[in-house]
Amino acid sequence: MISNQKIVSMNNELLDSQHQDIFEISIKLSLMNHRHINSKELKEVLKELLVMLNRHFSDEEAFMREINYPFIKEHMKIHRSIIFEIEEIIVREARTIHVLTEKLDLVVRDFIINHTSKEDSKITKYYEKKLKNLI
Ligand SMILES: [Fe+2]
Ligand SMILES: [Fe+2]
Repeated sequence: MISNQKIVSMNNELLDSQHQDIFEISIKLSLMNHRHINSKELKEVLKELLVMLNRHFSDEEAFMREINYPFIKEHMKIHRSIIFEIEEIIVREARTIHVLTEKLDLVVRDFIINHTSKEDSKITKYYEKKLKNLI
């Protein structure tokens, strides 16, 4: 299991708390891999995950627009591909619940660790420079 210390802060309360919520969902998913779950329970977590991700992405995109982040298009493309990848897994692995939860767990974990530290942190760095009038 991963620790939330790996989530890089964006110095933005809303976006940071959403990253934290998505992290909590990744914990739920990895716990689901180790026990029997019913499809109703799974559906609820999937819904929660997609609602949370879509909300976070649209709030983060609004923030990028607000600060005139120059690489917004590229960043939005990555967001879309994450949602697409998740939807693909849900459709492809619908019959095997443990494969589904395992694969989703990997994607969500990758999002939490890599996307936030490599991509979201670029937004933060740009914003910090802007605040210091360096841009
Ligand atoms: Fe992002
Ligand atoms: Fe993010």
